[in-house]
Amino acid sequence: MCGIIGRVGTENAIDSLLTGLENLEYRGYDSAGVAIQNGSGIKVQKRSGKVADLKAAIDRDIADGQVGIGHTRWSTHGPPTDANAHPHTDSTSDVAVVHNGIIENYLELKQELANLGHEFTSETDTEVIPHLIQHYLDTGVDNETAFRKALGDLEGSYAVAVMISGEHVLYAARQGSPLVVGIESDAYFIASDVPAFLEYTDNVVYLEDGDVAVIRPDGLEFTDLAGNAVDRSFETVDWDPEQAGKGEYDHYMLKEIYEQPTALSQAIEGRVDPRTDTIELESFPPGTFEGIDSVQLVACGTSYHAALYGSLLLNRSGIESHALLANEYSVCAPPVDENTLVIAVTQSGETADTLGALRTAKANGAQTVTITNVVGSTAARVSEKTLLIRAGPEIGVAATKTFSSQAVMLTLLGQRAIADRTGEPSLDLETFLPALRSLPGQIETVLGSTHAKTVAQQYHDSTAYFFIGRGSGFPVALEGALKFKEITYEHAEGFASGELKHGPLALVTPETPVFAIFTGVEDEKTLKNAEEAHTRGAPLVVVAPADHPAAAVADAHLEIPDTHPELAGLLANVQLQLVSYHAAHSLERPIDKPRNLAKSVTVE
Ligand code: AGP
Repeated sequence: MCGIIGRVGTENAIDSLLTGLENLEYRGYDSAGVAIQNGSGIKVQKRSGKVADLKAAIDRDIADGQVGIGHTRWSTHGPPTDANAHPHTDSTSDVAVVHNGIIENYLELKQELANLGHEFTSETDTEVIPHLIQHYLDTGVDNETAFRKALGDLEGSYAVAVMISGEHVLYAARQGSPLVVGIESDAYFIASDVPAFLEYTDNVVYLEDGDVAVIRPDGLEFTDLAGNAVDRSFETVDWDPEQAGKGEYDHYMLKEIYEQPTALSQAIEGRVDPRTDTIELESFPPGTFEGIDSVQLVACGTSYHAALYGSLLLNRSGIESHALLANEYSVCAPPVDENTLVIAVTQSGETADTLGALRTAKANGAQTVTITNVVGSTAARVSEKTLLIRAGPEIGVAATKTFSSQAVMLTLLGQRAIADRTGEPSLDLETFLPALRSLPGQIETVLGSTHAKTVAQQYHDSTAYFFIGRGSGFPVALEGALKFKEITYEHAEGFASGELKHGPLALVTPETPVFAIFTGVEDEKTLKNAEEAHTRGAPLVVVAPADHPAAAVADAHLEIPDTHPELAGLLANVQLQLVSYHAAHSLERPIDKPRNLAKSVTVE
């Protein structure tokens, strides 16, 4: 949701803080700010708008200082104004705080502090933190004790980084929102996410919930809230800064669409043995599904569409399998027991809704696994097992390559389940595996030959856009529509092909193109559904192989190579990603940072 960066070292902090904020802008971009500690106290500069606005406004004269914190915000409490931007300070500006998460008891704390004479200048929950610290400092305790006492008063979730006037120290703590420390030769970083400081260091320590870090220029220590030392190990992340940059592309989204062949090769590598044609998934050894009665996949947004894709394939293995919206899970959690496997599908591993569902499932006795892109993410820590999709950093708010990688992981899981249930590989493994190995190359083909830009331009003045598909084409239709609405701001909806005639057909006009996805499963029915819309005037765009009968009746044809039906949806999805991208580009939308959205949604 929001991004945190902090740095303490022997050089001025400002440049690395601003770089960090630019790198983190995908987490939120309503407002941004920095606080720097120097000989004359703590100086704060913050404003609503983008990091570029902050950067242009930075007063270099007051930006000297070797310890600092910064924040880029996605508003939860209070609109994106200068006053609500982080860092927040106490009334004396001796304490500066950046915070991600929600302080649930902030209204009570605010009232208590106001009764003691504290004056507040923002509508945020965060502002109570510097005031609380100041309150404890006023009682005469030292800085670290004041920080810990303040933490002890907070209810809710937080990742905080704090500076207190007069000392070159960063205090940080994590409870429910991610924080990671980066270690460079002459500096330490604290951040909400590794890409913040990736050009400076890949040597990191992930904080756990309940951890407190005290970071000085010459060393750092990790303790629990009570002050007992905790052991946290250093890790090297294998994302390089090049990967996290935009390269020659205009947008991260386009770059990430084009990275799909590599992302999928990485996802598959070492997991499919070409000599024996067997699938080897580290957290799903043979036999995993033997005692499993049912599978629940919990996820949100694009990850939910990948979960839906996966549930279809798992059902085919004979295991009852459901994809469930994580944000609905706590309202009506389906029954689970020790023979239920709950799989959280989450790119970031930090989505609050998904974490909530995962924790509920675990508390109710289910076995839990996370399929994620982020090593050390909260979901990976909460669940018993993790399966990494290895897609590399995804910066564009619109998820693209991670959807493909998640779906591919789930197809492999489906094959593992079939083998476990029947005692032998699925009958079509010998066609599926070669198709899977060809998939990265086939995506290259789509990327190299697509007419998506022409199609996007052809229908650029439509009033709404509909996407239909059957079987694994259905989650792709939902995903095609989500991507379209997310980055173009145009009305788009996805439907199961067969549902069109049960209501949505009333919406169809000559101004509503229908994108029909053909995956090779009951295509004749999907074609009938598409024609029902076409005869009522809707322009028909088919996403199908070259010689497909649907192409003969369509107004436009986005070609996909022939493949296994379980993978065809992923090729179709690439075409639809490109249609959305080009439509949004011609509308001059801020593609990587669509309005009102954030990459990682850490509030429920
Ligand atoms: C997709 O383009 C969105 N950014 C959003 O729906 C996203 O997939 C959702 O918030 C879930 O995120 P996660 O995969 O990190 O859990």
